[in-house]
Amino acid sequence: MFGKIMFYFVKDNKLEIQFENGKGFIEVIKDDIINVFSPLKYEDHFSRAIEGLKIIKTDFHVNYNNDCLILKTDKLIVKIHDDFKVDFFDKDGKILCEDYREDRKPFIRRGNGKIAEGEGIKIEENFRKYKIEIVKKMQGDEYFYGLGEKTGHLNKRGYYYEMWNTDDPRPHVESFVSLYKSIPFFITLRENASFGIFFDNTFKTYFDMGKENEKYYYFAADDGNLDYYFIYGPKVTDVVEGYTYLTGKTPLPQLWTLGYQQSRWSYSPKERVLEIAKTFREKDIPCDVIHLDIDYMDGYRVFTWDKVAFNNHKEMIKELKDMGFKVVTIIDPGVKKDKGYFMYEEGLKYGYFATDKDGIPYINEVWPGEALYPDFSDEAVRRWWAEKQKIMLQDGVAGIWNDMNEPASFKGPLPEDVQFKNDGRPTNHLEIHNVYGHLMSKATYEGIKDYTNKRPFVITRACYAGTQKYSTVWTGDNHSFWEHLRMAVPMLLNLGLSGIAFCGTDVGGFQFDATGELLSRWVQLGCFTPLFRNHSCIHTRDQEPWAFDEKTEEINRKYIKLRYKLLPYVYDLMYQCELTGLPLMRPLFLHYQDDKNTYELNDEFLFGENILVAPILEQGKNIRAVYLPEGTWIDYWTKEEYEGGKYILKEAPLDICPIFIKKGSIIPNFEEQNYVGQKKMNKLILDIYPGDGAYYHYKDDGESFEYKEGKYNLYKISMRLKDILEINIEKEHDGYDDYEEFELIVSNYNGNVVVNSKQYKLDQGVITLQKEILTKK
Ligand code: GLC
Repeated sequence: MFGKIMFYFVKDNKLEIQFENGKGFIEVIKDDIINVFSPLKYEDHFSRAIEGLKIIKTDFHVNYNNDCLILKTDKLIVKIHDDFKVDFFDKDGKILCEDYREDRKPFIRRGNGKIAEGEGIKIEENFRKYKIEIVKKMQGDEYFYGLGEKTGHLNKRGYYYEMWNTDDPRPHVESFVSLYKSIPFFITLRENASFGIFFDNTFKTYFDMGKENEKYYYFAADDGNLDYYFIYGPKVTDVVEGYTYLTGKTPLPQLWTLGYQQSRWSYSPKERVLEIAKTFREKDIPCDVIHLDIDYMDGYRVFTWDKVAFNNHKEMIKELKDMGFKVVTIIDPGVKKDKGYFMYEEGLKYGYFATDKDGIPYINEVWPGEALYPDFSDEAVRRWWAEKQKIMLQDGVAGIWNDMNEPASFKGPLPEDVQFKNDGRPTNHLEIHNVYGHLMSKATYEGIKDYTNKRPFVITRACYAGTQKYSTVWTGDNHSFWEHLRMAVPMLLNLGLSGIAFCGTDVGGFQFDATGELLSRWVQLGCFTPLFRNHSCIHTRDQEPWAFDEKTEEINRKYIKLRYKLLPYVYDLMYQCELTGLPLMRPLFLHYQDDKNTYELNDEFLFGENILVAPILEQGKNIRAVYLPEGTWIDYWTKEEYEGGKYILKEAPLDICPIFIKKGSIIPNFEEQNYVGQKKMNKLILDIYPGDGAYYHYKDDGESFEYKEGKYNLYKISMRLKDILEINIEKEHDGYDDYEEFELIVSNYNGNVVVNSKQYKLDQGVITLQKEILTKK
């Protein structure tokens, strides 16, 4: 299509190439991130994912050799051929990723599929041609990860997906090509290296990871620019850092958002909400948040309250606050068509709704019946929506849950020609669909930030690349199926690799009825998912921790308490995530990339670097195989030690989720509490697994942005095990209140311990120290 290279020139970080039929650009973002671009629609990137300038002045050189242009940075060699074929090599000339030169040729499908359609069997399309398609040659050793929220297994090789935000209430199964979120980014892991490709295109995009033919994989789009980033590893951790360098890191959230959250469609009336709250406290099950689903609203009008069921809602919120609960309310995008309703009237007056091609506000149906769709692609509308958050916040609401923002519609999908302003580049639904939820979350985030000046808590169902900057996500309407519990692990791991570190599932499952056993196993997984929220659908059986039998309640209590104990660890991971973009839930290959056994582990993961979680994901199962990578691993419950590099069999009765801690780890713990802020955490407990290692612990006020001005503490705790266990606790950054006390709980070790050069005797495995032992760096 592009034809021959005619001439080229280099300006700043960019190589511009004139082909016979069009222009191509190779831009060096930094020495290991290269952008490949052709202005097929817009002259510039016009990215909804990447904010601000990312280009770093980098040394590189370009020459023309025989038949191609060669661009070299310190880390990569890029060769550009006629027809804008682009190949990437590492600095030693080893091929990483090369364009496929032959024609696409699908695998053979035999027989006339049409006949099967009579029985309702869905026939796969054989061959699709796209306006933009980039076909890469399969070298043979590729594993693929990322692609956001997809069903199926961790490794996406051999499968085909589409990016088109989709609200499909049927049980999510492997044949689904799209769900609520569109993140056009994948990671390729090969024998000696890895790289990522971020295809920054908001139109419907297509990813075939070797399903059509195992000789190649491709990504494609219906429209937009040819605009993708090649993000070099060689470590997968480098790729994730690089991708989140472009699209943004998940920011440090408020501490309470990491506590347990209880939801239901819907807790109503307010007496029921209060009853739920009281039951948590009576039963001594920690909980920080209660979610109010659509029934708190007046006739599903967003930013209103039902005056009967939630009469005097401010008082209810106050009562909940006194018990230590935060309230999060759902806000959908659809604005009820209703004369006199302020959202409708204002939206109409200022032209804030998406319109049909004649400029008449477009109407479809959602919960309130006929409804209009705010045009979040327009800055003025985002500001309006941001302002409206105040209505909820001044009533005492602490966070906003954005739903139905694919956008969902009950009367068929939004037509292609629904019009959006698109910040000065008017366009239609095809371009905005995949960023509608993203832009809604951005508006919500900014509104909350402006009003509260605290770290906003937003949850969204739909998203695009980069949404992590504004919002946490949940994986939408799963079912109370064991199959969906199993799927949660690879889905969340791939979301995390796709930049969305703060994510979770509806614990217990949304549709269908959970059993006590399923909820017990789900809460064990939920304890290690960043967003830890139990949620269920209207008319399903109750699903609160106590809704089944005593044993289920006991297991819920145990794992929710474990989560609260681990809160400082979870918070440390979030702090690191803001710096590196690394997710909290990590596939094992992220830290053991040389170990091929870790490439397809769908049912276990690392929580941070030190905790390995191997949940039980099948009914009736009480034993499982666990792969432990190299090193020594300690069973969290029994303290038994295992040598890694192999599978072990682990017994796991219903109340046990197999958890292993790597030898040499230090895990910070909090004392028991029923909600964040119930106690001033004056004591830091350090759970120590003697060996050689170091750990950074972070502490701040847990809610404001003051940490950005240095108001935080960073402790470095290092440990060495020789003849004696030596521990050093020092403060690397001093900007916030100290702990009064440190309690060291030492496992699997009997001798004396030297802490900051002073020798101590263990008292039943414990040493308690006052803050005076601290050394400052
Ligand atoms: C959607 C959401 C679900 C919510 C329901 C009612 O199905 O995904 O979480 O409970 O709408 O608001």
